[in-house]
Amino acid sequence: MKSKVLTVLTTLIVGCATPMPMVKPTQADVDRAKTKWENADLASLQLGYTIYSEKCGNCHKLYRPAQFSEKKWLNVIPKMAAKANITDNEQQLIREYLLTMRENK
Ligand code: HEC
Repeated sequence: MKSKVLTVLTTLIVGCATPMPMVKPTQADVDRAKTKWENADLASLQLGYTIYSEKCGNCHKLYRPAQFSEKKWLNVIPKMAAKANITDNEQQLIREYLLTMRENK
C-alpha cells in the first residue's frame, strides 16, 4: 500500500518536473485548420506552436490544447496575450494552433 502511494507520488513529481512536450502540428492538422482559416499552413501552425511554447509557459505550465473548450480558449487567449505582451498576429497564430490541435484526437 505504502509503496503504491510512493509510486504515484514519484510519477506525479517526475511528471511535473519534465514539461510535457506539446503536440506538434502535422499535415492532417493543416487540412483541418484550412477549413477555418484558409491561409493556415504547416509553417503557420508550427509558428503558433513555437510562440505558444515560448511565450505562454512563463507564468504557469503550458495547458494542453484539448484541456479547454473552444469557447474558453477564445475567451482566455486575448487576456493572456496582454499578459504575454505579444502582437495581434502572434495571438492569431496561437489561436489557430490551439483550436486546431484541440481537435487532434
Ligand atoms: C505574465 C504571466 C502570464 C503569462 C505570460 C501568461 N499567463 Fe496565462 N495565466 C496567468 C495567470 C496569473 C493565470 C490565472 C489567473 C487568470 O485566469 O487570470 C493564468 C491562467 C491561464 C489559463 C487558465 C484559465 C482558467 O480559467 O483556468 C490559461 C488557459 C492560460 N493562462 C493561457 C495562457 C496563454 C495561451 C498564454 C500565452 C498567450 C499565457 N497564458 C501567458 C498568467 C500568465
